[in-house]
Amino acid sequence: MATGDWDRRVLSGMRPTGRLHLGHYHGVLKNWVRLQHEYECFFFVADWHALTTHYENPYDIEQNSWDTVIDWLAAGVNPGSATIFIQSRVPEHAELHLLLSMITPLGWLERVPSYKDQQTKLREKDLATYGFLGYPLLQAADILIYRAGHVPVGADQVAHVELTREVARRFNFIYGREPGFEEAAEAAVKKMSKKAQRLYNDLRKAYLERGDEEALERARALLAEQQNLSIGDRERLFGYLEGGGKLILPEPDALLTETPKVPGLDGEKMSKSYGNTISLREAPEEVEQKIRTMKTDPARVRRNDPGDPANCPVWGLHELYSDDGTKRWVVEGCKRAGIGCLDCKKPLIDAIRSEQSGMRDRARRYEEQPELVKAIINEGVEHARDVARDTLEEVRAVMGLTHR
Ligand code: TRP
Ligand code: SF4
Repeated sequence: MATGDWDRRVLSGMRPTGRLHLGHYHGVLKNWVRLQHEYECFFFVADWHALTTHYENPYDIEQNSWDTVIDWLAAGVNPGSATIFIQSRVPEHAELHLLLSMITPLGWLERVPSYKDQQTKLREKDLATYGFLGYPLLQAADILIYRAGHVPVGADQVAHVELTREVARRFNFIYGREPGFEEAAEAAVKKMSKKAQRLYNDLRKAYLERGDEEALERARALLAEQQNLSIGDRERLFGYLEGGGKLILPEPDALLTETPKVPGLDGEKMSKSYGNTISLREAPEEVEQKIRTMKTDPARVRRNDPGDPANCPVWGLHELYSDDGTKRWVVEGCKRAGIGCLDCKKPLIDAIRSEQSGMRDRARRYEEQPELVKAIINEGVEHARDVARDTLEEVRAVMGLTHR
């Protein structure tokens, strides 16, 4: 695939679940802040996605969306570098979702692992809905409407990016053919030896029908070996391998971010549903209080009992926040009972408070002047819609929808 704008474009979304915490910061936001300098970034609040599971009680979604945006800004996502917006304000996503739904086999959606997993996990909710089944297709529309080449996501979202690739491939296969392209390609196939023809056709089929990447590689190698093809025919056959002539919706890559484990206050993974979080906008006294009462190695009942950082969630935070010297001091002091747990926690309290002081200041400005946040979103929405409209216009045209 030739490179294009999409190689420089990054898109990611987050469902609005409320105030963000240190888990989001280390797992997602720090990465976004880095990416915004290297790529053309689009970051959005996926409020429609929240509605797929919270349709019975949607009243927090709006406030959660604003809180999410404020936390992004506080963490350093810069509206001067990245386009920040809210999904439902860009209705083009919905139109593309609808159009993609025409060509998406039901089985593809039913097989996405999160479909069954979430239904089991959230058993108290009725998720046998059309909207929930379409969750990953809506996500595909989110990505494809910007023709984004890279999608930073955690491991749980990789299957959704994979589906996006399959849908894009099918779309290009069905609608990307230029008039006469197929005939010209078929004629070019016939110029190869019988054996090469058969192999080419089999490999092409394996790739187009099952997404078999290895078959694609083998077919490309086969073409490269052919002596008696003109350059034009060779190009044609390369294009034909991937479906058609024209690439309308490029296939994105998942930009898998290794997410450091951020322990929560009880030692479980930090997560809102466990109620064990430190939020990005936590008051300094609260940070201190929460860390002071954070769980430690249960072996250290008394000050004189030695412990082991390997059994202590506080150590997980030192791994994120402390330099080598401090970490050595912790390991030594813990194992020999040379320091108490409160001593051990002190440098962490300082580190987290100082990390957050800038964030709290930025957040306060936006809390006090919500119109600033609204203006940032309005601008982001406008830019996002410009880009989205361009894609949609092309999509409409190839689908025969230009009655204007
Ligand atoms: N499903 C994603 C999540 O739960 C959120 C999301 C929606 C998203 N649309 C997206 C992420 C597009 C990346 C790209 O985290
Ligand atoms: Fe945990 Fe530190 Fe206490 Fe050891 S000294 S148990 S690492 S808090």
